[in-house]
Parts: sequence; structure tokens; C-alpha cells
Amino acid sequence: MKLVFLGPPGAGKGTIAAKAKEYYSIPHISTGDLFRSAIANETELGKQVKAILAAGDLVPDSITIAMVKERLAKDDAKKGFILDGFPRTVAQAEALEKMSKLDAVVNFVLDEDIVVRRLSGRRMCKSTGRIYHIETLPPKVEGIDDETGEPLIQRPDDMPEAITNRLKVYEKSTEPLIGFYRAKGLLRDIDASTTPDEVMASMVRALRK
Ligand code: AP5
Repeated sequence: MKLVFLGPPGAGKGTIAAKAKEYYSIPHISTGDLFRSAIANETELGKQVKAILAAGDLVPDSITIAMVKERLAKDDAKKGFILDGFPRTVAQAEALEKMSKLDAVVNFVLDEDIVVRRLSGRRMCKSTGRIYHIETLPPKVEGIDDETGEPLIQRPDDMPEAITNRLKVYEKSTEPLIGFYRAKGLLRDIDASTTPDEVMASMVRALRK
């Protein structure tokens, strides 16, 4: 199964991808995670993109496309993948068409006020990337990761100013992909406002059709 997860920031793409990668036995490839790991490891790429991510802007297409091309060439992505956060521009979508033939594009649909609540309440474990929410998915002990015992962090781009910018960037650069993929018959709209288990179940149903 070759899938793209599309939707506004905070729609739950990463949360559902964590379930779907087990269900379909395919790798979860998140461009946001790849960039954050480069930043944490202080690589050349990490230094190049750190300020861009913190502001909520998009990394240039040339850098992002080259990174995804390299990742999709790895053996584990041959039988399928979940691309989470890529493509985000029409140029990226056109480049992806040359790399692989998709089975479906899952469009996570969610109102903006819920998006803002989800992003401002998100916390994560820096070393494992495990995602929590202070209201809907709290850790057992406040501020501490259930598995590693490390303190949870708030992503710099989950601060109010960056959230506002990310929503604008999504509307301008990424939303046009909904029409792009609908015209190709690949789009599956999913209501992302229910619980993660319900979102996962409706996605599985939609992908069976
Ligand atoms: P990226 O990491 O991809 O960020 P994003 O698309 O903004 O998505 P998020 O990770 O913020 O949200 P999500 O939809 O995964 O939601 P989550 O499951 O965490 O990208 C970060 C940055 O990298 C970009 O801004 C850009 O700078 C750069 N970048 C990445 N890809 C790029 C590209 N292709 N081109 C250029 N630049 C790129 O859930 C959010 C919260 O809600 C969590 O707290 C969770 O617990 C909670 N939640 C989730 N689902 C539910 C539910 N069903 N019910 C209740 N709560 C829920």
C-alpha cells in the first residue's frame, strides 16, 4: 500500500500513521520527523532548516524532494509506505509522480479551531517522538514520557505565532493538492474530528473501497 497523508497541521496525521504502519506493515515516512532528527543531530541539513521549521515555513522544494527520493529508494519502502507531510506543494506532488505510483491519498478533514487546540496542547518525547496531548492523550505522570521517563517537550512550531503561520502556509501551498489528487481519483476524505481509533477505522474502510 502506497499512501500519502494530507491535511492541516495537527489534524492527527502522525497519530494515525503510528497505528497504520503496524496495520499495513509499511514504514511511516514523516518529512517533519526527518527534519527534526537532522536538527537534533546537528547535521548540515539540520543547520539549514532549523529556523525554517521554528517559524513554520516550508523547507525549499529542492531540499525536501531530494531527501524523500533518497528515503523512498531504501529497501523497506519498496512494498509500500505512508508519506506523512509530503508532498506539501504542487511541485513536490509532480516530483513524487516520477518516483512512485500511489494507491491513495488520505485527506484528514478538521475544523481550524480544533486544529489550534490540538497543536497548542501537543507534547512529545524528544528522543522517541511519541506524541501526547495535555487533554486528550495525557501521559501517566504530567510532563513525563510513559516509556523513557524523560521530560516531554513542546515543539517550537507549536507556539501561537508559528501555528498561525503554519495555517496560512497550509492554505496557500498545500490545500491546492486536494484538487490535484481529487482530479486523479486518488483522494479519500476522512473526518479527523473523532477519536484516533475511530479515525483509523474509517480510513481502513475508505481504503478498502
Ligand atoms: P510536520 O511535522 O509534518 O508538521 P505538520 O504537518 O504541521 O503536522 P503535525 O506533525 O504538526 O501534525 P499531525 O497532523 O501529525 O498531528 P499529530 O498526530 O501530531 O512538519 C513540520 C515542519 O517541517 C513544517 O512546518 C515544515 O517547516 C517542515 N516540512 C515538513 N514536511 C515538509 C515538506 N514536504 N515541504 C517543506 N517543508 C516541510 O496530532 C496533533 C495533536 O492532536 C497531538 O497532541 C495528538 O495527541 C492530538 N490528536 C491527534 N489525533 C487526535 C484525535 N483523533 N482526537 C484527539 N486528539 C488527537
